[in-house]
Amino acid sequence: MCGIVGAVAQRDIAEILVEGLRRLEYRGYDSAGVAIVDAQNHCTRIRRLGKVQELADAVNAANVSGGTGIAHTRWATHGEPSETNAHPHASGDIAVVHNGIIENHEALRELLQSRGYVFESQTDTEVIAHLVEWELRQSESLVEALQKTAKQLEGAYGTVVLDRRDPSRLVVARSGSPIVIGFGVGENFLASDQLALLSVTRRFMYLEEGDVAEITRRSVTVFDGQGQPVEREIIESNAEHDAGDKGQYRHFMQKEIFEQPNALKQTMEGRVTHNSVIIDSIGTHAKEILSKVEHVQIIACGTSYNSGMAARYWFESLAGVSCDVEIASEFRYRNFVVRPNSLLITLSQSGETADTLAALRIAKEKGYMAAMTICNVSGSSLVRESDFAFMTRAGTEIGVASTKAFTTQLAAMLMLVAGLGRQKGNIDAEKEAEIVQAIHELPVQIESALAFDKAIEALAEDFADKNHTLFLGRGEYYPIAMEAALKLKEISYIHAEAYAAGELKHGPLALIDADMPVVVIAPNNDLLEKLKSNVEEVRARGGLLYVFADEKAGFEDSEGMKIIKMPHVHEITAPIFYTVPMQLLSYHVALIKGTDVDQPRNLAKAVTVE
Ligand code: AGP
Ligand code: GLU
Repeated sequence: MCGIVGAVAQRDIAEILVEGLRRLEYRGYDSAGVAIVDAQNHCTRIRRLGKVQELADAVNAANVSGGTGIAHTRWATHGEPSETNAHPHASGDIAVVHNGIIENHEALRELLQSRGYVFESQTDTEVIAHLVEWELRQSESLVEALQKTAKQLEGAYGTVVLDRRDPSRLVVARSGSPIVIGFGVGENFLASDQLALLSVTRRFMYLEEGDVAEITRRSVTVFDGQGQPVEREIIESNAEHDAGDKGQYRHFMQKEIFEQPNALKQTMEGRVTHNSVIIDSIGTHAKEILSKVEHVQIIACGTSYNSGMAARYWFESLAGVSCDVEIASEFRYRNFVVRPNSLLITLSQSGETADTLAALRIAKEKGYMAAMTICNVSGSSLVRESDFAFMTRAGTEIGVASTKAFTTQLAAMLMLVAGLGRQKGNIDAEKEAEIVQAIHELPVQIESALAFDKAIEALAEDFADKNHTLFLGRGEYYPIAMEAALKLKEISYIHAEAYAAGELKHGPLALIDADMPVVVIAPNNDLLEKLKSNVEEVRARGGLLYVFADEKAGFEDSEGMKIIKMPHVHEITAPIFYTVPMQLLSYHVALIKGTDVDQPRNLAKAVTVE
């Protein structure tokens, strides 16, 4: 789930491993550790509960030397966060790091105990260390031992094994958790995410499901799930090297909120002319596929799900194509019916979300006409396993709370909707030009939303001492309210809920009192009058209203009601625009509360386990 880094080199690699872990810190973790072997076969294993910095201090103090090593940041799934449960786990001469979950760990633990192995930790991971130790006794090589081990493991893993007696190699297996190999000159590396290795290499190879590989200083040998040697493509990465730096910002989340104008420009680049969408840029055979689509099924989790929910309004009202949106963890476990000529779309920042990936794999068996992913990480599992991918190009997102990935997903879907509507004959050239022009205006509009930073900072004081908040919206602003509530929950730990404003009187109105701030998203659209009635319902019951309203919507400050007047923007792109003040609000509330904004408690950036 969290971070893995490994290296086989001639030089001392302690610093490279720790730097790699630092670059993966954004994923969220509770403990960290390294195991490093020197040329005299001496292995140093150091683990620490808490931050990577504590591990770094311990590694420095111990003056660890050695050119072969593995490192890990753990996000506990089995066994509390503690030094004993931190990785690497050891068995005799073997040390192991693991991302993911071994589902049959109990049965394996019993088997290994009956063979005399004594367990030191409560983790599922420790079974891998003992299994490899056992299998190695009856194998010719470490690779063979890991292949035999992998056959006995059920669940998800990216795992790396080191043998103290032979520091010339590391072996690694991938099943359900990503592993990338990084090529150096006379040295090679591996990690769970290429970001960890960008300071040492740009040449990468992604392992595929079931692969086992052996890495030495001068070679990388990959075997597929059947044990056959295979070639995997080597790619040259152009990811930003300094994505790991906060620059002038206090937090990655803040940096990423402010990067949105630029991120949106990149999402559009090469995909729109001044008045139309370049359909071929959506993906191979996009023209042919889109013209046949009669239904769209979107699958995603969390923030990505919220963006799908918002885009559903566009698919139906603009492109005239029916659209369902479902949470991946629900979709994957029910017997769904596939409508004729359905396009499956998975939405994901990371491209590695376990539930979304599982849903894609199941759906592919069920006869969708094509599986498309809208994703932010090239080379990720969703990108590789989908028929075509439309990359959001937001740049690396490090804050656990997703921001620029959400707005760029929306922009990507709006382009898709324009292209789909045109192919289906439901959007004419004039309408397409209107949508595309609104998209072009987005970066400048988002800049103007960011200019509300100071005003929102002042407003945040009113929320920081509250235990709950309600967010209201109608139409496509209801999912925007859902996303606003998710952001506030995630980083400020304030309980927040979103309601379609028309639902208020069906229950939640009972919650309204002076301790319940109610945030309303109020653009100037067809539903404005309806929304105004909902606002009055809250006001009449003594609720505290904060209305983010279009300057022409006719709201004025009054008793119990603060109005944040927003500039008028095009109706089609307004949901993207109104997302930004919501992001700023949650960010400033979290700042006042002093929470860990970039790595909120209990959360991880890429949820690669169920
Ligand atoms: C976003 O703020 C969350 N941390 C989370 O809900 C996230 O959106 C979800 O886990 C899905 O991730 P993905 O987009 O990488 O698939
Ligand atoms: N399941 C393992 C553990 O709890 C690995 C967790 C992770 O992916 O960090 O130790």
